Parts: sequence; structure tokens; C-alpha cells
Amino acid sequence: MNESHQGELPIKSETDIVLARRVVRDAATVLGFGITDVTRIVTAASELTRNIYNYATSGVMRWRSLKQDHRAGLELAFEDSGPGIPDIERAMEAGFSTSKGLGMGLPGAKRLMDELTIQSTVGQGTVVVVRKWLK
Ligand SMILES: Nc1ncnc2c1ncn2[C@@H]1O[C@H](COP(=O)(O)OP(=O)(O)O)[C@@H](O)[C@H]1O
Ligand SMILES: [Mg+2]
Repeated sequence: MNESHQGELPIKSETDIVLARRVVRDAATVLGFGITDVTRIVTAASELTRNIYNYATSGVMRWRSLKQDHRAGLELAFEDSGPGIPDIERAMEAGFSTSKGLGMGLPGAKRLMDELTIQSTVGQGTVVVVRKWLK
């Protein structure tokens, strides 16, 4: 796998969530995603940056383009050093929230993207990686 475009954005304020949406919209558009997929990717990025802000206060979003033998795509990684997620399976359930939220951010992001993986250690932090492939 080789990469041609990448970048990162610190997430530490509401403004950074807006910025992340813009960065992801531009990256996905340049890669050739259509308007529907761009909207899906931006929505997922919005939820995941908001989770960083809400639960970890701050963190970083990294993005990179992906190229494999016959396909290209976009990978977004959301990394924080916050409290971590004690039960990832539970957190992935629609409607589960520890903050009176809708509990649709993580399951929504999984549905909107092609791949979603979560690594989290309580007391250390969380990394959520999502990928979308060009059709
Ligand atoms: N980066 C994170 N750090 C710690 N906990 C998180 C993080 N992201 C999600 N969570 C946990 O997973 C739950 C579900 O997240 P989500 O599906 O986005 O719903 P909501 O944000 O509406 O609660 C959150 O309520 C929170 O407990
Ligand atoms: Mg959320």
C-alpha cells in the first residue's frame, strides 16, 4: 500500500470540528468520491471528531489516501489520549451513550464507511480508524 496524500489536524475546539469537515470534504472530493459518498464521509468524520472533543477534550485527526492493487480510498484516523472506552461492543450499539447523546455516532460512522476499527485502552485513549473505498 502506498500513499500519495496525507495530513493531520489537531482537534481541540468546536471550530476544529468545522475545519475537519472541510479538510475531509476536500480530500474526498480530490480523490474522486461522488457527492453522496463525500457527504457520508464528512458525516462520519464529524461524529468522530465530536467524540474526541466531547469525551477526550482533545486529540488529532489524520487522513491519508490509500492505493491498493485495484482500488483507491480514503483513511481517517481519530486519535486521543482521553479516558478510553471500557466496552467497545456496547459503545458500538445504536442508542448507547454515556452522555445523553443519541448514541448514533459510532454505529452511524460504521454504516456510512466501508471499514471501522476501534482500539481503546481505559485510562490511555482511543483510536478509531475508518476507511472508504472508491467504487
Ligand atoms: N473518543 C472517545 N473516548 C471515550 N469514549 C468514547 C469516545 N468515543 C465514543 N465514546 C463512548 O462511546 C459512546 C457512544 O458514542 P457515540 O455512538 O458517538 O454516541 P454519543 O456520542 O451520542 O454518546 C459514548 O457515549 C462514549 O461513552
Ligand atoms: Mg458521539
